[in-house]
Amino acid sequence: MNIIFLGAPGVGKGTYTSRVKEKYSIPHISTGDIFRGNIKNNTLLGKEAKGYMDKGQLVPDEVTINMVKDRLSQDDVKDGYILDGFPRTIAQAEALKEFSKVDIAVNFAARDDVIIQRLSGRRICRKCGAIFHVKNIPPKTEGVCDKCGGEIYQRDDDKPEAIKKRLEVYKKQTSPLIDYYKEGGNLIVVDANSEDIDSIIKNLVERLDSTRKSA
Ligand code: AP5
Ligand code: MG
Repeated sequence: MNIIFLGAPGVGKGTYTSRVKEKYSIPHISTGDIFRGNIKNNTLLGKEAKGYMDKGQLVPDEVTINMVKDRLSQDDVKDGYILDGFPRTIAQAEALKEFSKVDIAVNFAARDDVIIQRLSGRRICRKCGAIFHVKNIPPKTEGVCDKCGGEIYQRDDDKPEAIKKRLEVYKKQTSPLIDYYKEGGNLIVVDANSEDIDSIIKNLVERLDSTRKSA
């Protein structure tokens, strides 16, 4: 099953994927995580992406499309994938159609005030990438990852100026994808306003399973 996760920055895509990927035994591919991995390893791709990401802008389509095409050519995605954060423009969606078939597009929806609260309090483990939030999902010991003991940090693009820009970019360039996949007939919408993550996951899994059965 090839699944894409749409939704504004901070709506919870990474959090929800980390909880459902085992159930479906398919890899989680986050373009943001791939870029951050390249930045950490100081690669050419990382150097190019960092300038855009820190300002809250999208990395150019050509670079991103080639990166995803390459990732989806690997063996581990033959039974499916969860693609988180791609596509983010109509051009990316059109390109994706050429090299993979999307079975289900999930749009996670939440109010702007909820999203801003989530982004401004988010913290990430530098070592394993686990996602926390200073108020909503705090680590047991401040600054230390519950899962691996790694250091917890705030992403550079979770500062107020970059958050503002990311939300503008989302509305202009990414939100048209909701209608794009609705017209394609394979969109499901999941309400992500609640802080009860278990109930969001339950709803998501029910919707994915029933869509799979009727396909
Ligand atoms: P990316 O890393 O994909 O960032 P994003 O889309 O902005 O999404 P986030 O990762 O910020 O949010 P999320 O939805 O995963 O939320 P999370 O689970 O962390 O991309 C970063 C950058 O890379 C882009 O700006 C761009 O420059 C570049 N890029 C990436 N893909 C690209 C593409 N296709 N084309 C071009 N450029 C691209 O949750 C957020 C917080 O909320 C956490 O603290 C979490 O603990 C908390 N939380 C989550 N759900 C709940 C809940 N239900 N209740 C309470 N708290 C919650
Ligand atoms: Mg994410």
